[in-house]
Amino acid sequence: MLDSYSRDIDYLRISLTDSCNFKCKYCSPQDNIHCFEKTMSQQQIINLVKLFSKMGIKKIRLTGGEPLLRRDLVEIVRGIKEIDGIEEITMTSNGLLLSEKLEELKKAGLARVNLSLDTFKRDKFKGITGVDGLNKILSAIDKLEELDMVPIKINCVLINGFNSEEIGEFIKLTKDRKIQVRFIELMTMGDNIEWGKDKYYSAEEVINKYRELKFYRGENVAKIYKIPDSKGEVGFISPNSNKFCSSCNRIRITSEGKLKLCLHSDTEYNLLEVLEEKDPLGTLKKIMGEKPKEHRLNEKKYIKKNMVSIGG
Ligand code: GTP
Ligand code: 5AD
Ligand code: SF4
Repeated sequence: MLDSYSRDIDYLRISLTDSCNFKCKYCSPQDNIHCFEKTMSQQQIINLVKLFSKMGIKKIRLTGGEPLLRRDLVEIVRGIKEIDGIEEITMTSNGLLLSEKLEELKKAGLARVNLSLDTFKRDKFKGITGVDGLNKILSAIDKLEELDMVPIKINCVLINGFNSEEIGEFIKLTKDRKIQVRFIELMTMGDNIEWGKDKYYSAEEVINKYRELKFYRGENVAKIYKIPDSKGEVGFISPNSNKFCSSCNRIRITSEGKLKLCLHSDTEYNLLEVLEEKDPLGTLKKIMGEKPKEHRLNEKKYIKKNMVSIGG
């Protein structure tokens, strides 16, 4: 469906849980408090996807926290796959528990997975995520390749003084493998405001430094570059240095069933209440008209929630 700014919204991201087995410094609060009593049930998720498919949603991305922490993940994928109008189901995961479940998920209808990886160094990996899991993530990438779930997208958050020296190594990964490495500019929000103060590193700086990268195409929120003749690609998701809101095609549902029309807006709409209404579709259409034109990160309008509760 077209929103008030003529953007075709056909992509819905659903957070299945706000719980995560990693504690990435830019994403998750660093204390131990976690509450997820109000997580949506499998049936509520399916009912919502049915409703949104009638509004023109074609693509579903399952996110978290960490979606693999849901015991009913395979059933959720299977249930969504059966819904008319849904053309693709994908997932964003930290990869730690992926290898053992991947075949089952693929059979259920999962097309592809985006993984997070910010460093190739074992101690640094543990430092940023809180878990000694680098080898498991590298194996998960191999497993995705083995099952031909390609292109594999690897999300690497640019962190000045942490991984800025490893950028070349990430780019090298795209030479011979069907991998799209995406460098993401650090987004300030929730609890990371203090931590992130001196850690911003812009996509522009990477593009200017690595001259072998040639611009290839735009992809909604990413700009895709490539080393000519390589199998993979290098994407840049740059909400700060290159705002992409005019081509935004997405909306989000939090794990509690709240609709977020923009990642960087605190406004949420209770979809579980909408589901109970007489004319849920009519209400939803009205709500969709409120999708903001753009985020206001450049005006330092930072949201209160952490990324872990939204799913990116
Ligand atoms: P594809 O559908 O495969 O292109 O994946 P994706 O980029 O939509 O999903 P993914 O979960 O891998 O997101 C990668 C990063 O992009 C995360 O850090 C997200 O927060 C960020 N991102 C995705 N959509 C938006 C958006 O609408 N606005 C902003 N600012 N960031 C976004
Ligand atoms: N800024 C930029 N990217 C982030 N991610 C999580 N938190 C942030 C942040 N503050 C990314 C991770 C993950 C994806 C879902 O979101 O790379 O792969
Ligand atoms: Fe968990 Fe992903 Fe956030 Fe890391 S980036 S804390 S893996 S949700």
